Amino acid sequence: MPSFTRELGIDLGTSNTVISEGKEILLHEPTSVAVLLDEWKMVEWGQAAKDMTGRVPEMIEVFNPLQHGVIAEYEITENLLKYVIRKVVGPMLLFRPKLMITVPCGITSVECRAVHEAGLGAGSREVYLIQAPLAAAVGIDLPIAPPTGNMVICLGGGTNQVAVMAMNNIISAGTERSGGVKMDQDIIDHIRKKYGVIISQITAEVVKMRVGAAVQEVDSLEMEVQGQDQVTGLPSSVEISSEDVVEALQDELENIVVLVRRVLEKTPPELISDIMDRGVALCGGGTQLRGVDRYLTKELGIPAYLVDNPTTCTAQGAAQSLTMLDVLQRALPPV
Ligand SMILES: Nc1ncnc2c1ncn2[C@@H]1O[C@H](COP(=O)(O)OP(=O)(O)OP(=O)(O)O)[C@@H](O)[C@H]1O
Ligand SMILES: [Mg+2]
Repeated sequence: MPSFTRELGIDLGTSNTVISEGKEILLHEPTSVAVLLDEWKMVEWGQAAKDMTGRVPEMIEVFNPLQHGVIAEYEITENLLKYVIRKVVGPMLLFRPKLMITVPCGITSVECRAVHEAGLGAGSREVYLIQAPLAAAVGIDLPIAPPTGNMVICLGGGTNQVAVMAMNNIISAGTERSGGVKMDQDIIDHIRKKYGVIISQITAEVVKMRVGAAVQEVDSLEMEVQGQDQVTGLPSSVEISSEDVVEALQDELENIVVLVRRVLEKTPPELISDIMDRGVALCGGGTQLRGVDRYLTKELGIPAYLVDNPTTCTAQGAAQSLTMLDVLQRALPPV
């Protein structure tokens, strides 16, 4: 009898939720919700909710129910999962889907259980969890089965994660509760100090994506943004250049290097020499910052390369992992 059960990989990220079936991306939306505060009821989600940021009346709050990759608002996350799953499988959950949901490396068993239960509560039949860098490694087809070291760096919205994998397992890993959202805040702080203008979080993210860079040796771009004068409180515009963003992001970039070094210290030397030969794969939205590969290659002394599908490989790998449960089971977090 043919199986009607859908098998979905869900990259439940701090900033974005991506759903894949096999290698096909079915949904890619911000992990944002707009909630009616009185009733604690979700009124909008995804891009539509993110677009409401800073534009809603007091009774509505727009936020991300995950912080640093872990569930901060359980009920809302479960509800959001319900919506995204229904969106991809249709309203009639006759055959409840099987899910592989990503979690950051090194989160607690309580945090893992919350994700597991949210998946079941959202209408799934069976829920498995996978560490995001391991899913990414599968999604970019790294050869993780042989006894050879592979390193992945995932730069997300709320986490930076590094893992070394071999023999279908994670050998060493590290997670920092930092990432793109912190970078946006660093841009806000830098622009306020340098130009006396306060810009919004949304504007800071746009600046980072349009003119941002990790190193000065890229084409310099500029853009004019609207903000608020720090002293008078009046509207004020400011021209921001790539150099400004490079300056703003240095501390955060250095933190990534420290994290990678910490993971390398825990990695057996044989595997380090494999990584030196093969290079480090960069994935996650943060790796789209111009020059980040060049920066990490220089600072780490290991070639760092961008993958083709940095924002979708984790969800694709999660979906593929459902067909590899026999070999991956020992590596997956227990629930
Ligand atoms: N061109 C770009 N330059 C710099 N940063 C970018 C660019 N495009 C996207 N980003 C950043 O990538 C981050 C989102 O990446 P991603 O979707 O991989 O995170 P996530 O998986 O939701 O978060 P996490 O894995 O930390 O839970 C955001 O902070 C976003 O600003
Ligand atoms: Mg992620």
